Amino acid sequence: MNLLFATNNGHKIEEVRRILGASWKIHGLKESGVHAELPETGNTLMANAIEKASFIHDRCQQDCFAEDSGLEVDALHGAPGVHTARYAGPHADAGANNQKLLLALQDTPNRVARFRAVIALWRQGQLHTFEGVIEGRIALEPAGIDGFGYDPLFIPEGYDHPFAALPAEVKSRISHRARAVQKMAQFLQQELAYGME
Ligand code: IMP
Repeated sequence: MNLLFATNNGHKIEEVRRILGASWKIHGLKESGVHAELPETGNTLMANAIEKASFIHDRCQQDCFAEDSGLEVDALHGAPGVHTARYAGPHADAGANNQKLLLALQDTPNRVARFRAVIALWRQGQLHTFEGVIEGRIALEPAGIDGFGYDPLFIPEGYDHPFAALPAEVKSRISHRARAVQKMAQFLQQELAYGME
């Protein structure tokens, strides 16, 4: 199945391809010839996912999905949440975001956190949403070189190392994104099984 993924984030495209396997053809915006800055003005992950998917759906007049994700840290009352990408400032890179998070938690024994991903899918004129969550904790220092964003700091529940130091196959199976994408894939497969393609 072909799916247009309304994102310019190459890491997310790579992960969704790995999660879904070769029978799904995932096309990012740039490779589809769509050059657009996606709006992200909502106060929730759900609002942002819908905003991004709807922007591309309106513009391209075709089925597509978008994803918005964030890190919720209990000791920070759920922050950075919807501001995860810009935690250390509007143009902050992952290193600056990770440093800010370590500083914010430096005197805090409670390191409990979770990643949440929301997908909004436009399919045959209807909007559907899917959510995935992975519980975990924030490490005391960064480790590993794989992945992106907060992967050097986020240790998923049941593991001793952060995503960036675990095999990519683990993240593809258990991450917030994997769980949301698997729900979307299950929905689309059911639709196909009922002959609604
Ligand atoms: P957005 O969904 O484009 O708003 O960005 C969410 C931000 O959350 C990203 O820029 C990353 O910093 C962070 N993030 C989302 N998913 C992951 C992940 O799987 N690993 C590490 N960081 C992530």
